[in-house]
Amino acid sequence: MPFGYPGGIYFLADSHKCYNLVFITYIKFAMTSKFSIKMAAILGLSLALFSVESFSQSPRTVADFDKGWHFNLGEVANGETTGFDDSHWRKLNLPHDWSIEGEFKKENPATPEGGALPGGIGWYRKTFTVPASSKGKVVYIDFDGVYEKSDVWINGHHLGFRPNGYISFRYDMTPYLNFGKSNVIAVKVDNSVQPNSRWYSGSGIYRHVWLETTGRLAIDHWGTSVTTPNVSAKSADVSLEVKIRKLAGNISPYTVKSTIYNAAGKAVAEKSNVLSSGDSVTTVNQSFTVAMPTLWSTTNPYLYKITTRIMMGNVVADEYSTPLGIRYFSFDVDKGFSLNGKYMKLLGVCDHHDLGALGAAVNTRAMERQLQMLKEMGVNSLRTSHNPPAPELLDLCDKLGIVVMDEAFDCWERGKVKYDYHLFFKEWHKRDLVDQITRDRNHPSVMIWSIGNEIPQQNDTAALRIAPDLAAIVHSLDKTRPITTANDRPDTSNKIIKSGVLDLIGYNYHERDYPNFQKRYPGKKFIATETTSGLETRGYYDMPSDSIRVWPQYNNKPFGNPDNTVSAYDNVRPPWGSTHENNWKIVKKLPFASGMYIWTGFDYLGEPTPYSWPSRSSYFGIIDLAGFPKDIFYMYQSEWTTKKVLHIFPHWNWQPGKVVDIWAYYNNADEVELFLNGKSLGTKKKEGDDLHVMWRVPFEAGTLKAVSRKNGKVVMTTETHTAGAPAKIELVADRKNIKADGKDLSFVTVRILDKDGNVCPDAENLVKFKLNGEAFIAGVDNGDPVSHDPFKADWRKAFHGLAMAIVQAKEKGGNITVTASSNGLKGATLTINSK
Ligand code: GAL
Repeated sequence: MPFGYPGGIYFLADSHKCYNLVFITYIKFAMTSKFSIKMAAILGLSLALFSVESFSQSPRTVADFDKGWHFNLGEVANGETTGFDDSHWRKLNLPHDWSIEGEFKKENPATPEGGALPGGIGWYRKTFTVPASSKGKVVYIDFDGVYEKSDVWINGHHLGFRPNGYISFRYDMTPYLNFGKSNVIAVKVDNSVQPNSRWYSGSGIYRHVWLETTGRLAIDHWGTSVTTPNVSAKSADVSLEVKIRKLAGNISPYTVKSTIYNAAGKAVAEKSNVLSSGDSVTTVNQSFTVAMPTLWSTTNPYLYKITTRIMMGNVVADEYSTPLGIRYFSFDVDKGFSLNGKYMKLLGVCDHHDLGALGAAVNTRAMERQLQMLKEMGVNSLRTSHNPPAPELLDLCDKLGIVVMDEAFDCWERGKVKYDYHLFFKEWHKRDLVDQITRDRNHPSVMIWSIGNEIPQQNDTAALRIAPDLAAIVHSLDKTRPITTANDRPDTSNKIIKSGVLDLIGYNYHERDYPNFQKRYPGKKFIATETTSGLETRGYYDMPSDSIRVWPQYNNKPFGNPDNTVSAYDNVRPPWGSTHENNWKIVKKLPFASGMYIWTGFDYLGEPTPYSWPSRSSYFGIIDLAGFPKDIFYMYQSEWTTKKVLHIFPHWNWQPGKVVDIWAYYNNADEVELFLNGKSLGTKKKEGDDLHVMWRVPFEAGTLKAVSRKNGKVVMTTETHTAGAPAKIELVADRKNIKADGKDLSFVTVRILDKDGNVCPDAENLVKFKLNGEAFIAGVDNGDPVSHDPFKADWRKAFHGLAMAIVQAKEKGGNITVTASSNGLKGATLTINSK
């Protein structure tokens, strides 16, 4: 090796070893030869296929490029030049969001709607060496997302500008690199012109960056497209389109060989095509049959993988991996959504991309934790409102079995805030949409494309032009998934709907109109793209619980509480929204309603409806910003899962004699009996549409106990006690064993307890953290939408008895001790093991 090509122009596989040593700190699983070859060896898979031949390793490498950047907040002159001295700049690893490190201020140009944190201009620079052995190969830099308006230079050469803060993009650096020598990459990020978003965006290179090297004959960027046109229990047809890019003159015939591996690593199907030297871009289609396929579903998200190799004799010129989930789904006019032939509702939430105290900076574990909590609640679908997500989010949805509505835009040519994407739409929408669809179309979890949220032009004739244009772009790249838009004016005057290009008609809100949908749009398919917008502050309750407050009030009428709290009884909604119970009761009864997406699963920074400053984050979440469920979480859990639920609220600390409404969400039972200090307050049953039961009880300190029963037998029991004065701290880690990879997280909940171990529901004690060991505090929070305390700190006040410290592993393993202390309270210590 290497195998010479006729004419001997290119070498493909000779020197990658030394290359790997220099560059590869972490290899992106989904895309490398190293992984699959290693896995193959470990799992002893189908080596029959390969054992006789001895293969070289593919020259494709995908290296983590997150480490060792220098950062400067603020504009600099000549920051792109090679000779620029950045030695005094701050050293950091990506992903990085500088806004989350800043101070909340009313005057920040993002406004409270955008989270009231600072924006600005930031510069990133990194000096790195490309090994001499990479000469002759193609070297790309891949950005998963930069917010926003990035300019990138390599060795002083401008590679490009990209305005969209949520899109993934790459540049070919090859012609400008110094092989065997040092190189400087510089990135300018401009998030200074604001407001440019209706929610918190974050600022900086907030997603991962990869350095990808390929040979000169290689599969193109996002160069495969997989579909499963015919699927049955007995067999599945799999179609793969492979786009090959050839930066060479004469290349002798080569083989494109794709192998489908099951989850155990066993090869289950294979196809080879021999191609001769062709155009610079060649497409080859391969068809496979997988016998007795295990189907991907929300309950069994079974994943296959396709490995495509370009072979020149025994030399692997490239190796590329495509995820594969075998499933079929459809939307029916009358019966709604079905997956693998089984009707089910898409029980979804909308979420923005920020990760609370971590800001927009991508962290896979933080995203996984969010999705796991949502799954616990019964969620089986997610809408990536209102932009393309981080690629890792889709990997996680594939893995966890969450159906995704992948959304492209929050506006088209007319904007919602002064400096949003409408300024770039005309010039960039095609490129951005193509990149999004091409990047995301192989994810089995993605089943719906949304080409826009509440598009301001939905009633303009412009929509008759733009909607078909966008739909054509999507369909040219993927014909297997329906297209929708999320319409806040879903009546028949809507021009997007009128254009006829939507496969699913999406309603945002307007739940009272759902039952009329089939009359309004005969023969069309319905989805509730956005619902509810219920408002709650975790742990705060206004009575009477059964009267609904509509906040904010129109006509400048006063509304709200002086401390910017909102009741958590599901009794506050905005004028356009609905309570949680009301919306679900409607959707539940309509078989044609294929799904609903609640606004939102998690609280997010920005959009503090019904208030504004001093509030700076949302009240819409079913789970608060710190990740603590609000009570409504359990209503969904009782309805959307089969898990046994009995949740009573509120807390039991009130003034003597105060009449308190006690609610219970329950399932798997006929009735619930409530006891106060041993005395029965009566048995209640949900009747008709009811989703909860309620008792109205004068407060008396002591113990509330609820017992649910089915056929007279106890199903569950739960108790709430009147808490005494705060006496001690308790620390509870979501995971006590984490990976020493510099990225993994342990979410440590802080609970303020009385001497008997009851959570003190009004405790606000200030807690200080000390860490020992190879870790650091990545963020602190308590879920209070009004707090202006920093997220990057080693202290936090409790909010309704709880706070959160997020502990991030370093790269060295060992025991990590977290100590929490607070004046007048008994402290607590917790040990986390990092390996
Ligand atoms: C919707 C909008 C969301 C969010 C929500 C708040 O109209 O699509 O982005 O603003 O309202 O209720």
